[in-house]
Amino acid sequence: MSENLISVVDLGSSSLKFLIAEETEGNASIIGVGIVPSKSINKGVVVDLNKASEALVQAKKQAENMSGKKASPVYVTVSGAHIYSLNNKGVVIISKEGREISQEDIKRVEESAKVLLLQPNQRIIHVLPRQFIIDGQGGIRNPVGMSGIKLEEEVHIITGSSTALYNIEKCISMAGLDFDTFVAQSLSSSLSTVSEQEKELGVALLDIGAGTGDLIVYSNGNIAHSAVLPIGGEYITKDVAFGLRISLDEAENVKKNYGFVLTNRGEIPQGEVEMERIGLKDKLIVPYTEIGEIVSSRVDEILEGIRLELMKSGYWNSIPAGIVITGGCALLKGFTERASEILEIPSRVGLPRNDFALTNILNSPEYSASIGLVMYALENEKTLKRRPEFWKGLSWLKDLFE
Ligand SMILES: Nc1ncnc2c1ncn2[C@@H]1O[C@H](COP(=O)(O)OP(=O)(O)O)[C@@H](O)[C@H]1O
Ligand SMILES: [Mg+2]
Repeated sequence: MSENLISVVDLGSSSLKFLIAEETEGNASIIGVGIVPSKSINKGVVVDLNKASEALVQAKKQAENMSGKKASPVYVTVSGAHIYSLNNKGVVIISKEGREISQEDIKRVEESAKVLLLQPNQRIIHVLPRQFIIDGQGGIRNPVGMSGIKLEEEVHIITGSSTALYNIEKCISMAGLDFDTFVAQSLSSSLSTVSEQEKELGVALLDIGAGTGDLIVYSNGNIAHSAVLPIGGEYITKDVAFGLRISLDEAENVKKNYGFVLTNRGEIPQGEVEMERIGLKDKLIVPYTEIGEIVSSRVDEILEGIRLELMKSGYWNSIPAGIVITGGCALLKGFTERASEILEIPSRVGLPRNDFALTNILNSPEYSASIGLVMYALENEKTLKRRPEFWKGLSWLKDLFE
């Protein structure tokens, strides 16, 4: 039945990932998967509507064929340099004498927290609750039924350029799909890779794909900071191509198959790699170390950018659980080890939860955002339908929506 279907699309700069999930009696399973290269999405932004929607049609068809179902309105990830985020606070007076806080009061304080001077052309994507404060007492997650005089709410707001968002919606309708909701890529990836304990302790999540590095920081269980940085695997590939004078396709192969990051303690592989030259028949022979040096200088630069962003956020000292790295670049050998060295915090690869994926294909950091999107959608539908039994396993997600 169509009301139990969830369709999501992760608009990556390297590939479009389309998933169809089905929910039956509180259990969800991913029953359709479509993955196609996305040449016309550049750093999260649609640069060619026709090509992007053609790719979307292909991805949708793959997922529909596999599942035997027709896609429902889609949840879509957003990323790109047009995304801004900030923390804001709303305040309302409950009553002079103090009385019980109602759902109505929550709505009022949310409205107040949403009031901010947006740049022209910016649209709000998320208003995510961080904490409620009653008469100066913070750390409250659900104040309904508590008594107080003054209610404050701290929120994390994520906005995006209305034209960039419009173009995505247009692309979706051109592909014959209905649109449901935008979800920031960093938030989406964090849902499938980061544990509740890590969020309580303080943790950063970096989803680094081909064109963007999407960062989100949790502290005391709440979203503290998020940012999109214009960095990703395509920069490493371009440098390999440029440095070795080989084609971009060959550079991508070399990076994936032989690329590694030099770390303080890692072994340096010996030997040489044979590769295609542009327009020439004879092969090019390159020592491993040379590939490692090119890859490493770019990776170090990327990680310095992350370090700067974390320091700027003010939370670098508040993430003892370290950084979880996901997205395709997390597959690069030595990347997480080097991250730990440069950022001076623990680091691990973020693999997405796979307890409801029926296929092993999705068991890779490249699918963290799309699987997180399914989780977001499930929780969102549950809230809409007001069916508390809908998805038992995701109680930790509830805070985001209450
Ligand atoms: N084994 C690997 N080693 C190094 N980089 C990889 C590997 N596998 C994928 N990548 C890189 O990851 C990126 C794609 O990751 P993905 O998260 O799917 O990106 P996007 O979401 O932007 O489409 C590409 O830049 C690709 O080169
Ligand atoms: Mg991605």
